[in-house]
Amino acid sequence: MPVETPEDHQTQPESGATWFGYRRIEAGQKAALVQGVFSSVAGKYDLMNDLMSGGIHRLWKAAMLDWLNPRPGWNCLDVAGGTGDIAFRIRERQPQSHVTICDLTPAMLEVGRDRAIDKGILSGLDWVSGNAEDLPFEEMQFDSYTIAFGLRNVGRQQRALEEAYRVLKPGGRVLCLEFSHVAVPALAQLYDTYSFKVLPWLGEIVAKDRDSYQYLVESIRKFPTQDNLAAMMTKAGFRQVSYRNLTGGIAALHSGWRV
Ligand SMILES: C[S@@+](CC[C@H](N)C(=O)[O-])C[C@H]1O[C@@H](n2cnc3c(N)ncnc32)[C@H](O)[C@@H]1O
Repeated sequence: MPVETPEDHQTQPESGATWFGYRRIEAGQKAALVQGVFSSVAGKYDLMNDLMSGGIHRLWKAAMLDWLNPRPGWNCLDVAGGTGDIAFRIRERQPQSHVTICDLTPAMLEVGRDRAIDKGILSGLDWVSGNAEDLPFEEMQFDSYTIAFGLRNVGRQQRALEEAYRVLKPGGRVLCLEFSHVAVPALAQLYDTYSFKVLPWLGEIVAKDRDSYQYLVESIRKFPTQDNLAAMMTKAGFRQVSYRNLTGGIAALHSGWRV
């Protein structure tokens, strides 16, 4: 069987439409469907991340923090921040920073708040409900905008990137960590088998929710390729846009600056 290329799944739906996994839907419908997915998995989300990736997501997040290198006094925004993984890492790396975590799904934020209390992180974090497409913040507020495994779930991704640009200060940086497209052919077949056979099964066994993990796998295939995402960031206004593949392109880190 020929190995599928990312382009096989890169067909763009007509204007005003988007993908929910392999389903074509109205862009405005996506937030409610995605909220359903994350409300369902919130309680098992962190455990599933470790199980699904064999802990590798921790290395990817560490790579994100290395690249971000937060400085004292930074006002950071972590969009689609969910249960707080990126925000906690920013605060651990740079205790003299402030992080606002913004997420669509209240159940994910609730798990995050509980985790912060368990970790003894009682200050320097704000938890805000909001949509990446229409951020509830004034323009030019933040030194950094991070989004990890979030942009793929957003209905209007170009609009979310424009919102990132709007809320960043001049000189501010955007970093996007996301599942991407495998750049090593030998890995592609293995990764496909793992994705379509093992992940939905794990979702069923651990989170009692096969459909949400089927959505995860399909949404990765529909996400823009590394080069396409870089072009979208440039279109949103970012400069010096670049990316790094992680684990052969299973994930990628994109960076850009508001100048
Ligand atoms: C896969 S989780 C990632 C959580 C966290 N960033 C991490 O890396 O562990 C995706 C998160 O994106 C959030 N999300 C999805 N669509 C969103 C949107 N349009 N605006 C804000 N958050 C969104 C979901 O609620 C969920 O918490």
